[in-house]
Amino acid sequence: MSEAPLLSVENLRIDLAIADARHAAVKDVSFAIGRGETYGLVGESGCGKSVTALALIGLLKAPMSVGGGRVRLHGEEIQALPAAQMRKLRGKKISMIFQEPMTALNPVSPVGRQIAEMFVLHEGATWREAERRAVEALASVRVPAPDRRVKDFPHQLSGGMRQRVMIAIALACNPDLLLADEPTTALDVTVQAEILELIRDLSAAKGAAVLMISHDLGLIANMCARVGVMYAGRLVEERPSQEIFSAPSHPYTKGLVASLPLLGDRAKHGRQRLREIAGVVPAVTNFPAGCRFNPRCPAASDICLSDDPAPTQLPGGLVRCHHHD
Ligand SMILES: Nc1ncnc2c1ncn2[C@@H]1O[C@H](COP(=O)(O)OP(=O)(O)OP(=O)(O)O)[C@@H](O)[C@H]1O
Ligand code: SF4
Ligand SMILES: [Mg+2]
Repeated sequence: MSEAPLLSVENLRIDLAIADARHAAVKDVSFAIGRGETYGLVGESGCGKSVTALALIGLLKAPMSVGGGRVRLHGEEIQALPAAQMRKLRGKKISMIFQEPMTALNPVSPVGRQIAEMFVLHEGATWREAERRAVEALASVRVPAPDRRVKDFPHQLSGGMRQRVMIAIALACNPDLLLADEPTTALDVTVQAEILELIRDLSAAKGAAVLMISHDLGLIANMCARVGVMYAGRLVEERPSQEIFSAPSHPYTKGLVASLPLLGDRAKHGRQRLREIAGVVPAVTNFPAGCRFNPRCPAASDICLSDDPAPTQLPGGLVRCHHHD
């Protein structure tokens, strides 16, 4: 029998509750991540990337909630774990870093103390031991003078340094899976590259798998072996990274590739390669019938207006479109 993947997500549904109605913000999302694998989730703003990650780690808040499906870690279901057990798992088995670390860090606690807390909470270390290890953890995320910086409060650090602290906290207890939700979007371009390199190096060194989330397909394809493309709460295509560029199958993926100025195929797209996808992602309360991409899709036909396409297997992936390549 083959070993269970590290993470498997089956038919995940996330509901947005408004008054008495439940709207499926995320519907039938399925994917798996292997041990040590780096998997990317990409899509425009509002496609459901963050709520998917929050659901995996048990941090969804009202009015959003998990409405169905299964999440398994090492083959064991985790989506219905009691809060106390989920808290034990967080940081120890799965951890998460966010776009703006300030929201996740405690503003009134020195950063060294916040790192040390992980060792006390999850590994039963004494505070003395934990604070010593916090200095090492800060050094491992390449923070200069870590023995002094441990005493700093979050607001005394730059955005890049704060993100390094978040990474140190997230990786302190060697989790199996790191969820990285737009970890560099709020940072300067030069700092972005350093943070991505840090995530790549440290996760590889610790053998942690990474779910990297971004609206930037170029970044995702650089970092990840496989890519899942999300549109309006659906996983519309999943492929190995290089195939996303050489042979995108879903019209939405084609649009994302064509809107990449540097990586688009110049010969194929000619002067139009800088084209943005016309229109916007619909609100959760306003998803169209049929395929959710139909109002923006250049290939839409009658069936697209009435029938939601089922996933079709492709070599190494899948696509959800009536008229896929
Ligand atoms: N607390 C909330 N209340 C109401 N709607 C919400 C809430 N959280 C998310 N949504 C809606 O759910 C959808 C998915 O949101 P999500 O934050 O997951 O998008 P995203 O893909 O992460 O976008 P971004 O790239 O902007 O971070 C969006 O339409 C968003 O407006
Ligand atoms: S199912 Fe139809 S509307 Fe949806 S992406 Fe495919 S062609 Fe476009
Ligand atoms: Mg988001």
